[in-house]
Amino acid sequence: MGQVHVLDHPLIQHKLTLMRRKDCGTKDFRQLLEEIAMLMAYEVTRSLPLEDVEIETPVAKCTAKVISGKKLAVAPILRAGLGMVDGIVNLVPTVKVGHIGLYRDPETHMPVEYYFKMPPDIEERDIIVVDPMLATGGSAIAAIDFIKKRGCKSITLMCLVGCPEGVQAIQEAHPDVDLYIAAIDSHLNENKYIVPGLGDAGDRIFGTK
Ligand code: PRP
Ligand code: URA
Repeated sequence: MGQVHVLDHPLIQHKLTLMRRKDCGTKDFRQLLEEIAMLMAYEVTRSLPLEDVEIETPVAKCTAKVISGKKLAVAPILRAGLGMVDGIVNLVPTVKVGHIGLYRDPETHMPVEYYFKMPPDIEERDIIVVDPMLATGGSAIAAIDFIKKRGCKSITLMCLVGCPEGVQAIQEAHPDVDLYIAAIDSHLNENKYIVPGLGDAGDRIFGTK
């Protein structure tokens, strides 16, 4: 079963509370999401392998550590996942970015695919799939299905807010995928929105409502 890491760092929790408030405007919401994504990426990349290199400081020669040639990619689920990309890119500037276009059908709540573009060597990369919201889990499950079909074997899911239903669904559908998340809220309401959640993440990032 994939591991679930709830990132309870005080900075992440404080910023998330600011985002949840209904009077948090688009500019602040976007900035806070980017900042949290950077803090979360710090944890997601914690187990990247290191290797020794020989260097020379102004004082002496020594052996020091660098990240050893691990190939990473980040794959936002459109639209809302886009709000988490820059935070990761700021921390790992060489990361490649793929895009997975999905939206939830408002009637059926099922994910509908409309775009898919990944780096060509996706099967050699560790992919971090990002989406702020894990509600029913349908979108994340479908996104991971797509990238597995293209040959990717190493996938991590990074979300901001989820609920027990979504966490259980992703664990059942993709038991090999670890989840990093800032909060697991109470439940889904009748419209499949997370309670208390933060509303519609895409609309709040892009100011479309
Ligand atoms: C939201 C969110 C997730 C999805 C979560 O996207 O960003 O992708 O819903 O719900 P689920 O776990 O039940 O699938 P939405 O479909 O609203 O599209 P948007 O990002 O374009 O606003
Ligand atoms: N998508 C969102 O943006 N928010 C929710 O609470 C559920 C799905």
